[in-house]
Amino acid sequence: MARKVLVLPGDYIGPEIMEEAVKVLRAVDRRFALGIELEHGLLGGAAIDACGVPLPDETLAQAREADAILLGAVGGPKWDGVERHLRPERGLLAIRSELQLFGNLRPAILYPQLADASSLKPELVAGLDLLIVRELTGGIYFGEPRGIRTLENGEREGYNTYKYSESEIRRIGHLAFSLARKRDRRVCSVDKSNVLEATVLWREVMEEVARDYPDVELSHIYVDNAAMQLVMRPKQFDVMVTGNMFGDILSDAAAMLTGSIGMLPSASLDKDGRGMYEPCHGSAPDIAGQGKANPLATILSVAMMLRYTLGSAEAADTIEQAVSDVLDQGLRTPDIHSEGTRLVGTAEMGDAVLAA
Ligand code: NAI
Ligand code: MG
Repeated sequence: MARKVLVLPGDYIGPEIMEEAVKVLRAVDRRFALGIELEHGLLGGAAIDACGVPLPDETLAQAREADAILLGAVGGPKWDGVERHLRPERGLLAIRSELQLFGNLRPAILYPQLADASSLKPELVAGLDLLIVRELTGGIYFGEPRGIRTLENGEREGYNTYKYSESEIRRIGHLAFSLARKRDRRVCSVDKSNVLEATVLWREVMEEVARDYPDVELSHIYVDNAAMQLVMRPKQFDVMVTGNMFGDILSDAAAMLTGSIGMLPSASLDKDGRGMYEPCHGSAPDIAGQGKANPLATILSVAMMLRYTLGSAEAADTIEQAVSDVLDQGLRTPDIHSEGTRLVGTAEMGDAVLAA
């Protein structure tokens, strides 16, 4: 059965890292006879330049057809001047919500070879393997009404709306619990139910979902304490489930525990397990065009795509093992480079993974 993968390279370093990831994807496709068909499309600034909008209808149609989407990164200073609703990042928000990619999986895994790159002491992060499950299509990033208005007294007021429906909470809860079953069977739900009513409901619904998973342990934590615990004792967590905004912030914090954002993949899944896969980092305009970008986050996103959507755990394992082997060989792009290791560029790193 042919499986369609839509490749959206995006902007700045996007196309550079994507080239390496596509090399690796083609190689595992051949080796494991996966029958993957690749198609390329435009999103973000690249789409603005070609068609005037960040998410062209054609891209959306391609995305709906595809089983999985592999995305580089979008945005950058070139499009700073365009109107807010046409900005590259809007294309990303739109594709996530159009496809109802509500389940954002952000693993934070510390590779033992990179223990010295973490901002924390090695003993605090050695063996770290946590998964943040972030709700991606609801909450305050999408809530209406929103905007900036002028009050009667002439003062301006900015406002957004934090809301989650029961069904939105339930589906992200089920995703988190079912993933926990394949791991250490612990889910920690993050809320702010001491202050925000919307998250009182969040906590209640998580308790209800937990009844379907008697073998998985559920705990709750307030988001401020979660931030503290993440930098104090990160290894206490297995799966953390939370809303859009809290998840955005906590997953970036968790990312840095592992050393470099250049190492971290992510998945965004819909209810049927179709999904979009992308590195956690942005388009890194500061290093674009210099062959310095670390392609491993995107290559590891390919592995997640094989595991979660394309159903080939064997191919996923092979890629993850190859990445580990390359780190063992001492190869490092500038973002993870330290004394005694070998500095390489984007393409050389991609080729090394391919060889491994
Ligand atoms: P960024 O993640 O692009 O860069 C932050 C820092 O990390 C920079 O110093 C960059 O050089 C470095 N970095 C990022 N990826 C790297 C890699 N693969 N290898 C080595 N170093 C890497 O975040 P920033 O600078 O805040 O945003 C730049 C642009 O990217 C903005 O337009 C932003 O809106 C966009 N962005 C897009 C995202 C996406 O497409 N999903 C996510 C985050 C930001
Ligand atoms: Mg973010």
